[in-house]
Amino acid sequence: MSAQIAKLARVLVLLVVLGGLYVLAIHKHEQRETLRRADVALTPGCADKLARYGLVAGEHYQSPYVLAKDGVAAKLRGYTQPDVRAIQRGCNIIDDTQGHFARDTGLERWNSKRFIRGSHTSCDHCHQGIGDKQDAEGNRLKGSLSLAASWAMADMYDRFTGLLLPYELRQMQCYINSSNGYKPNISDDLIRDVTAYSRFLSAALDLKIGNHYDEQGVDEIAASATVKQGDDYIRGEALYKDKCQSCHGRQAVGTVADGRVIAPALAGPNAWNMQSRNYFYYVSTILPGFICRNMPLGQENTLSNQECRDIAYYISNLPRPAGDRQGPLIALQNQFLMAVMPPLMRLTESQTKDPAPAQHAAGAR
Ligand code: HEC
Ligand code: HEC
Repeated sequence: MSAQIAKLARVLVLLVVLGGLYVLAIHKHEQRETLRRADVALTPGCADKLARYGLVAGEHYQSPYVLAKDGVAAKLRGYTQPDVRAIQRGCNIIDDTQGHFARDTGLERWNSKRFIRGSHTSCDHCHQGIGDKQDAEGNRLKGSLSLAASWAMADMYDRFTGLLLPYELRQMQCYINSSNGYKPNISDDLIRDVTAYSRFLSAALDLKIGNHYDEQGVDEIAASATVKQGDDYIRGEALYKDKCQSCHGRQAVGTVADGRVIAPALAGPNAWNMQSRNYFYYVSTILPGFICRNMPLGQENTLSNQECRDIAYYISNLPRPAGDRQGPLIALQNQFLMAVMPPLMRLTESQTKDPAPAQHAAGAR
């Protein structure tokens, strides 16, 4: 008799557990649907950008950018309301990865903070101009990591791994390594929305699928493109102090004022990790290329190839989080260095003159 009761109890427990999971799944599903249907409060940067590209729901879409630039009034297939909201959320994720604006609305769907460890990282710091960096005349810029141009090359072969990497996996790489974070699920709305936004950008700019554009990726600088002096830490450090420290701070740990990132960390706990392609020893051509084309902010393209490689070499010698391939010893060493660095810097603070405060605030566009 008691054996039968025990059996019944086991079945009941199982049923309750399974039923609970079912209710939880339904609840999560509903939550996601509510968020998908909710109006999106755009960041100021995204409000500007999407208005400029004339994003509205309708049967046809016509790009004001293409009309102004090429005088072509091409009609493309339009966007539905759900499409528009996905594009808007995608833009918000790139512009405000930390979700500073998301908190006010109480809707967290485009708040990607949960996938990122540091408090500085925003996709827009590297994929500048909210993934669509242009000069004052609206020209796209070489080596500016454009998301529009990378979508046009969607699912291309990856030069480093030789694998065909779908657009979703490329985003995941950036969460894990360049943002030193965690892997979002490949079918997460977060990934879906950024894909929708990138695809919209490439339509708004009239980029043709399968083509390579100059603004895609980084304008890489190999050692062979220098005067072959070799990469030099001492030269790099001097150049960093002269050209970068006023914004990015001592030891490149970034500068923050009133909780706002003025310039993001290039080293230390808030920076990209050792498995990111931005890390010089992993791929030595990317960081110099990024620096030469995109920095110092406001004075882009003023450094020589050699200078960019020297600075990249210096920055990459500063401690930063280990990636998933470095092993526990290197991870421990870097954690230790990152722990002792700030107090040491404070000790020597009085001996160094404070650089002039930076005028530009990250993410101000
Ligand atoms: C610290 C700089 C940095 C940050 C932050 C960053 N990325 Fe990237 N991203 C890169 C680099 C470098 C590449 C690789 C370029 C290459 O291989 O030529 C890249 C590549 C990509 C690609 C593929 C583009 C292409 O042309 O191959 C996508 C998509 C992407 N990132 C999305 C994101 C998203 C989404 C975020 C925010 C969660 C983000 N990135 C944050 C530096 C960064
Ligand atoms: C006027 C201030 C300023 C100067 C000078 C400056 N930067 Fe930046 N840097 C920024 C800001 C702000 C960002 C974020 C980009 C954005 O919001 O557009 C940034 C982003 C970066 C990034 C992207 C990576 C990340 O951490 O997200 C790198 C790398 C970088 N800077 C390197 C340099 C180097 C190297 C120099 C010196 C040659 C330099 N910067 C000089 C302000 C500056």
